[in-house]
Amino acid sequence: MLVMGIETSCDETACAVIDDKKTIRSDIVFSQIKTHRKYGGVVPELSSRRHLETINDVIDLALRKARCNLEDINAIAVTFGPGLVGSILVGLTTANSLSFVYNLPLLGVNHLEGHIFANFIEHPNLSPPFLCLIVSGGHTCLVMVEDLGKYIIIGQTLDDAAGEAFDKVAKYLNLGYPGGPIIDTLAAKGNSSFVKFPRPNASSQDFSFSGLKTAVVNYVRDFHGRKNKRFIRDLVSSFQQAVVDTLVFKTLKAARKIGVNRIVLSGGVAANSCLRRFLEGAAKSEDIEIFMPSIHYCTDNAAMIACVGYYRFVEGAIVGILGNNLSADANLKFFINR
Ligand code: KG4
Ligand code: ZN
Repeated sequence: MLVMGIETSCDETACAVIDDKKTIRSDIVFSQIKTHRKYGGVVPELSSRRHLETINDVIDLALRKARCNLEDINAIAVTFGPGLVGSILVGLTTANSLSFVYNLPLLGVNHLEGHIFANFIEHPNLSPPFLCLIVSGGHTCLVMVEDLGKYIIIGQTLDDAAGEAFDKVAKYLNLGYPGGPIIDTLAAKGNSSFVKFPRPNASSQDFSFSGLKTAVVNYVRDFHGRKNKRFIRDLVSSFQQAVVDTLVFKTLKAARKIGVNRIVLSGGVAANSCLRRFLEGAAKSEDIEIFMPSIHYCTDNAAMIACVGYYRFVEGAIVGILGNNLSADANLKFFINR
């Protein structure tokens, strides 16, 4: 059985083919960073155009690398939300057409469910129940995965997502786009106790990073010393530490409260070296198992979408949306709120 995954919800055009044993046959990700860099963020209109220009080549390449044809594929899994509606539509329309022409089942996948499942690709022994921290450009979400397909939201973003805070702080400091990896690199050489930024919303299970971003802006405005490279490194290191401390504190607190002893990390910000180190350290000190994807599977890719499709189609493990009348949903929700 071969499952093809297609992902176009933001600024990556991606296609992957996985086989029966969850083996990745091919995994192509075309990043649009070059297109959006000069604007300091993703421009939705340009993103959909770029997806249109590249999707056919990305699919061809994925098939070639997987050494198969469309006739060999048994099902197609595609992201239908949440994300940029014009971008999602490109992947969804393509998947829909292929499903129609080749008479293949079409499986609609929630992008966030994909991020959770990215962990199953490299950790075959991982199984629910576990607490998953999803930290991406658009979401910060603590989800209790009670079983495959059974999710309960424990806490979520009230304003800026963690990745959004990284990107906005980097943009304000003219560091480049995307801000997360740039700040990660600079912060490694900085002093994280240079500024004691607030650890937002400690008593709540939800997340709020917009006040922290304002605190950084205010600090820079009121600082009268030399704003040299060292200042920037110390500043972003202190900012990053505040984000990481908040994420780690709330995740561990929720795990303790629920009584779950397995934590899973996912989403683009899961690539952050400081978050990986501190979450791992905190979990181990409380005898909690910790799982995280390798860097490639933290950020957007289609293998994670195909992986959801595999569990749904091949194993019948989760009930999901199936059929050719799927529509793109920018604000797609599927989690049950606590
Ligand atoms: O999951 P993702 O690829 O796309 C969304 O679903 O949003 O996440 C992208 C986000 C961006 O905000 C980017 O700055 C952030 O992940 N990111 C990082 C790192 N690598 C990517 N944030 C902090 N540290 C990193 N190393
Ligand atoms: Zn994502």
